[in-house]
Amino acid sequence: NSVSKEAWGSRLGLILAMAGNAVGLGNFLRFPVQAVQNGGGAFIIPYLICFLLMGIPLLLIEWSSGRYGGKFNNHSTPYIMKEMGKSPMWKYVGVFGIFTNIAVVAYYTYIESWSLVYVLHSVFGTFDGMSQSQVAQFFVEYINVFTTSTGIPFEAVFFYVLVLGMNVFILSKGLGGIEKVAKIGMPLLILFGVLLAIRGLTLGTSGQSELFPDANAWDGLNFLWTPQFDTLANPKVWIAAAGQIFFTLSVGMGTIQCYAAYLNSKDDVALNAVSAGFVNEFVEVVLGSSIVIPIAAGYLGLDWVLENAGFGMAFQTMPFLFQQWGEIAAAFAGVFWFGLLFFAGITSSLAMGTPWMGFMKDEFGWGKKRGAWSFGALALIMGLPTVLFYQYGVFDEFDYWAGTISLVVFALLETILFSWVFGIGKGWNEITEGADIKIPDIYKFIIKYITPSLLLLVFLGALFTPYQNEWMININSLWEGNGWNLDDGSIIKNISNAGLRRKLQTLTNEEDIIFLKDK
Ligand code: PHE
Ligand code: NA
Repeated sequence: NSVSKEAWGSRLGLILAMAGNAVGLGNFLRFPVQAVQNGGGAFIIPYLICFLLMGIPLLLIEWSSGRYGGKFNNHSTPYIMKEMGKSPMWKYVGVFGIFTNIAVVAYYTYIESWSLVYVLHSVFGTFDGMSQSQVAQFFVEYINVFTTSTGIPFEAVFFYVLVLGMNVFILSKGLGGIEKVAKIGMPLLILFGVLLAIRGLTLGTSGQSELFPDANAWDGLNFLWTPQFDTLANPKVWIAAAGQIFFTLSVGMGTIQCYAAYLNSKDDVALNAVSAGFVNEFVEVVLGSSIVIPIAAGYLGLDWVLENAGFGMAFQTMPFLFQQWGEIAAAFAGVFWFGLLFFAGITSSLAMGTPWMGFMKDEFGWGKKRGAWSFGALALIMGLPTVLFYQYGVFDEFDYWAGTISLVVFALLETILFSWVFGIGKGWNEITEGADIKIPDIYKFIIKYITPSLLLLVFLGALFTPYQNEWMININSLWEGNGWNLDDGSIIKNISNAGLRRKLQTLTNEEDIIFLKDK
């Protein structure tokens, strides 16, 4: 057994793999949309506060828990948490850290496959000369797997299975494979991102097209970066900010613990955790906000952006806007943009495969091949409904439960375990042992009291989300004795019969089937 003990090849490889884990589709597709939908400059302050009070603490907790578990040869959250909590109950809590990944990877790799296909179409000039609505329609037809834009049915399914297969192949090579992909993918991603961001930032203030002479790229940037304080009291913005921080940092899913379990017991966790977190924030806040928003605002105007914010923008609008730069430049921009998305995606989806593989190894002694293939099979079983029935909202359902709610619940439980069961004294030792930087002592207090309290608030907020997310109106209504109206987006509505009935009704009501649920 000691012969086969796996470890990261180098510190650089580890950092790139961990940064690759965090930097993902969330940085480029989710962040801009969340920021726009939550008021731009109104979003950024809660977002940064959530990064400091929940993001950094959770990174430290997960890195150090992972390294701790690794000392006992544990590689997945069920075993790591059981080791820390000394009770079998924690083993079952840890199962979250396996299955959430499989549910997320099912739809995540689907977007990854779109990115790959769009790289190819950019190279082959598919979008040359297309109108804006033709480019948008191309996507709608692509995801309608039965009648695709190229006339080949099941094209989307084919590429989905192909990309899943690439993930399985790389995972079957173990940590070395992941490291290699990160070493190639991360530098390219940053290069592509910087080039596109320069374009976004230099579009300037003059209208870019005759159709919208008043459109202005700087309107987009100003909207994102002018801080607004009046929404600070709105819980809706805080919950969205916290949700984005969890998703983007990959916390609450078990992948970080798994990666960190392959550290040596004396390796630093503090500096590594903080650096990986900051790389992610640079890519998200600087690059993620300098591409889609300013480019779209530059051509179509800020009002259009506010109206159409959704991740469809990335696939339905960007290829059209690139055309405005001429065919050659459009091909390059398409390769940069969709190539960036593909690398961002694959370095994250690989991470989502490792908890399952680690668990099957710890529990049944499964090797890498078996672990990787069984993971691929599970992802396919969960993913095919998403792909075949995309237009019925299956995708959104997965994203809600696995990509949003589960992260918060798991993060809350692991923080309680770390600070209160394992104990903050021992926990702090794990964080500081071998550390290459000094984490301010205040974080000991934050991790023990502030982080779990905030996580609890976020959880309660998601449980009882008021009707239409109008907190003030509902608080008044409660005050006046008129009760609390739950929103369809609240957890309670979603697990209740009412929620189920509503969904089934949507499925059977043809008129409600909207192909691109952008919002
Ligand atoms: N952090 C990734 C992103 O921003 C998503 C992810 C979540 C990856 C959890 C791995 C684990 O897209
Ligand atoms: Na991210």
